[in-house]
Amino acid sequence: MSTIWELSELTQNPVYTTQFGAAYCSDSRELLSSLPDHSINLVITSPPFALQRKKEYGNKEQAEYVDWLTEFATLVNQKLREDGSFVLDLGGAYQKGIPVRSLYNFRVLIRLCDEIGFHLAEDFYWFNPSKLPSPIEWVNKRKLRAKDAVNTVWWLSKTEWPKANVSNVLTEYSARMKKLLEDPEKFYSAKKRPSGHEIGRGFDKNNGGAIPPNLLQIPNTESNSQYLQGCKAIGVKGHPARFPSKLPEFFIRFLTDPNDLVVDIFAGSNTTGSVAENEGRRWLAFEERSDYLAASAFRFLDKGIPTEQLQDIYFQIENNQCVDLMNYKVQPRLFEKQAKYSAD
Ligand SMILES: C[S@@+](CC[C@H](N)C(=O)[O-])C[C@H]1O[C@@H](n2cnc3c(N)ncnc32)[C@H](O)[C@@H]1O
Repeated sequence: MSTIWELSELTQNPVYTTQFGAAYCSDSRELLSSLPDHSINLVITSPPFALQRKKEYGNKEQAEYVDWLTEFATLVNQKLREDGSFVLDLGGAYQKGIPVRSLYNFRVLIRLCDEIGFHLAEDFYWFNPSKLPSPIEWVNKRKLRAKDAVNTVWWLSKTEWPKANVSNVLTEYSARMKKLLEDPEKFYSAKKRPSGHEIGRGFDKNNGGAIPPNLLQIPNTESNSQYLQGCKAIGVKGHPARFPSKLPEFFIRFLTDPNDLVVDIFAGSNTTGSVAENEGRRWLAFEERSDYLAASAFRFLDKGIPTEQLQDIYFQIENNQCVDLMNYKVQPRLFEKQAKYSAD
């Protein structure tokens, strides 16, 4: 099987490669442009949000944000396969100085659909129960607003029929449903519900799990990963806005098959690439900051790797030398023993 970087027509060298993927350090518009059209199955990403408080890596003012993101999305549309998907995680924001929400995430959605021609396959909401109360002024100090703990996650598709299989992301049955499956006769009788739904005998069939809702409850509380341990060992800070691996994991399992191509165009600490690797999907990670990419390599390495070797890998990547991580002790892949998706 050809490796991902041999298959791609990217004009520059990756900063690191693994069995299934490659990470590139540059503006993702440039990198996307050099990929063949209709080549990507899934782009899943979390761009810098249009927040008022500037994050360490900078973000666009709300007014110009939609124009800026549209440039990337236009290229994504061109590079997606006909049955491909674009999953965009956008955090909410307030307008400057007033307790009124910005509509930027909705403006992005409407622009991408109306102007580029994306379809809204489904709107998802990521509820992070561990999110700290914010913004401090409206929530903690003046007590005028509830804490903001839900991100909008737009699942956009190039055509009306993107590849998807919800059976790949079944969640655990509730205790009530488990009881019903054990003894359907005792538990209920088939009848029409007040809502008008016919609850027939089909409902007591065990499908191996429940259909997940479009509200994904995933805490963002990673504290003991190989990534953070590696950062700590060599004395660098972890990426300030990582998403939890369960988020890309859900969409990668739902919307792609093994060996499909998954791309993250704002890769940060490359959470997406490491999940794709574990799931046996080919992947590309695009990120403009070499320090973020250098630390992201730790996600693919074995826990026992000595600090000097971590330092060496970090230094090489930061200086744009291509590192083949397969030459180091790499974490065993998980995808053969694919665990059932669990929302928490
Ligand atoms: C919200 S973070 C992504 C974090 C990522 N999901 C993770 O789990 O680590 C957004 C990233 O986009 C990167 N970025 C911003 N503009 C970019 C561009 N034009 N090309 C490539 N990367 C860019 C930033 O440096 C930042 O690391």
